[in-house]
Amino acid sequence: MAADPRRALEKYRRHAATYDRAVARAEPLRHEAIARLQLQPGDIVLDLGCGTGLSFPLIEQAIGPEGRLIGIELSPDMLANAQERVERAGWQNATLIQAAAHDAEVPVEADTALFHFIHDIMRSPPALENVFRHVKPGGRVVAAGGKWAPWWALPLNLGFWYVARRYITTFEGYARPWSHLDRFVPDLRVESRPLGGVPGGAYIAWGRVPAAGPSENFPSGLP
Ligand SMILES: C[S@@+](CC[C@H](N)C(=O)[O-])C[C@H]1O[C@@H](n2cnc3c(N)ncnc32)[C@H](O)[C@@H]1O
Repeated sequence: MAADPRRALEKYRRHAATYDRAVARAEPLRHEAIARLQLQPGDIVLDLGCGTGLSFPLIEQAIGPEGRLIGIELSPDMLANAQERVERAGWQNATLIQAAAHDAEVPVEADTALFHFIHDIMRSPPALENVFRHVKPGGRVVAAGGKWAPWWALPLNLGFWYVARRYITTFEGYARPWSHLDRFVPDLRVESRPLGGVPGGAYIAWGRVPAAGPSENFPSGLP
């Protein structure tokens, strides 16, 4: 079954108030994911399915006021919390867009894109196509999230299913959630990580979109 934005909207209407506390155990993976973005002052960052903006402090710290943060989020309830976070911190360089990733109008060409615990977007080729139209050649990409643990952890997978079904609308591709990224990030590297104490219950994937070809890298006429 494909991801269903209408069901996601309903789910996150209920989760918005308690989301930050509920996901506290996954925070180490967030730190690793953002470190792997190798953010530089002045970078333009896309945070897809940014939720309540839990990634914003680490991103803002790295890009500084000269950078730009674009958060794209389907749920108005989650985004309202993200907006509050932005206002409390006084970040002037954050633009929050309420839209489904497949039809969001992205106003920039980004240096980096973060996909953090957004399985529904990872499994939507139209969403990825729209996002990657707005990532610069050579742009850095990091994805992280839950996945099925190895077969020997079958009973633990039942627990994962019970928890994850609150947050995602499809388990399609949950064994290899990154599989559609290969098309956009040919050098994608993937490693397993523990989640909630379960080895292999999460993944982290990173790489770069291809750099522009030689004809785009060098002005014509040069040797
Ligand atoms: C598990 S939360 C992750 C939030 C945030 N990335 C984080 O790491 O805390 C998944 C988020 O993706 C959003 N979402 C789900 N489907 C989406 C879509 N098609 N387009 C944009 N956002 C979507 C949900 O509303 C929710 O806020």
